[in-house]
Amino acid sequence: MTTLTQETTDTANKIMTAPQISARAKSTQDSPIRKLSATAEARKQKGIKVYHLNIGQPDLPTPPIVFETIRDLKMSTLAYAPSNGLPQALQAWKIYYDGFGLSLDEKEIIVTAGGSEAIVFAMCAICDYGDDVIVFEPFYTNYNGFASIANVKLNPISLHIENGFHLPSSEEIEKHITSRTRGILICNPSNPTGTIYSREELQRLVDIAKRRNLFLLSDEVYREFAYDTPVSSVLDFPEIADRSILLDSTSKRFNVCGARIGALASHNKDIVQSAFRFGMARLSVASIEQLALVPMLKSAKMYTQPFVEEFRRRRDIVYDGLKTIPGMTFYKPEGAFYIVIGLPVKDAEHFSKWLIEEFEYEGQTVLLAPAPGFYATRGAGVNEARLAFMLNGDDLRRALIALRVAFEVYRKRF
Ligand SMILES: Cc1ncc(COP(=O)(O)O)c(C=O)c1O
Repeated sequence: MTTLTQETTDTANKIMTAPQISARAKSTQDSPIRKLSATAEARKQKGIKVYHLNIGQPDLPTPPIVFETIRDLKMSTLAYAPSNGLPQALQAWKIYYDGFGLSLDEKEIIVTAGGSEAIVFAMCAICDYGDDVIVFEPFYTNYNGFASIANVKLNPISLHIENGFHLPSSEEIEKHITSRTRGILICNPSNPTGTIYSREELQRLVDIAKRRNLFLLSDEVYREFAYDTPVSSVLDFPEIADRSILLDSTSKRFNVCGARIGALASHNKDIVQSAFRFGMARLSVASIEQLALVPMLKSAKMYTQPFVEEFRRRRDIVYDGLKTIPGMTFYKPEGAFYIVIGLPVKDAEHFSKWLIEEFEYEGQTVLLAPAPGFYATRGAGVNEARLAFMLNGDDLRRALIALRVAFEVYRKRF
């Protein structure tokens, strides 16, 4: 018979009773975009110039009006803002939407902590545990994290590079609807593909939402970044005013990612009221930042125009540069500042890792975001990667030359 000492009993008890984190916490993914960032830092330490084509943080300076507004604020107490947003901020968002012909009452808008919070609120407002939301993959990878937080299942429908990641037929979409499907979430213009859904494609979704009694959630954080044709908003379809939810953000259009100001807007009172109640639970969005962005929301086009023109130039540089690389599959992105490209290799993860760990061309290399992280379906997008246009034109050209050389070297080696 074995006699347990007090010490071994204590250790055994500790192991048995150690609290475990939830399955949900364990299964929430790390950001696939940042996976290779540590290696990139190590390469930089060794003097290699790394072109970051992996991240979506604009490299341009924030318009000075933001900092000027903050400097001019006269406040004696830094108080909570109302949970739906400061009146000045709500008024500014209303004016902003007027500029796009979208007529919203201030009561139909909730200011959120970035677009991220708006998406979580919308998911929580329409889904119970076990419900699902249709998404088109590849999709913005944080939708996975938002779905984990909201305890919602993502129900992916694959799009394809061959038609620039445009939507499939209504029949194909409807095949995926289950008894637990509560909504369809789109990103228009899309991160990661740069696709803009045409009015006809949106009408297809609108008709499905009506026919199958679903909500239509539209993440329009890149609304202004539309290079060839303007974006139609989900709120542009009055026939689904009772089921459309607009998810929005100032982060990219004004280059104020750190301000954390977004919005949820809907003509459906229950949705807005639900978001308001979720908002009450987190009390308030940062009041200084809400005020700081009021002038830009009120005269948005003046501030967004130069960014849009710069990103249009970059989109063209990337598109022309990709034409010079043999074996690439790509299309002309219509909006946002991303493209998903088909690489002339079997495994984009392996190639991207090799690129950042080993490869150099004239002291330079490139960091890509392998596309499998943007798909929910295992095995999808294995030879694809997302490029973000966050570098100035010269650096983008140099990065694409380094990429072309990298494929030549890689194909000889593997
Ligand atoms: C498509 C999309 N939606 C939402 C967000 C979240 O933006 P925010 O910074 O406003 O939380 C991002 C940020 O990259 C995004 O690309």
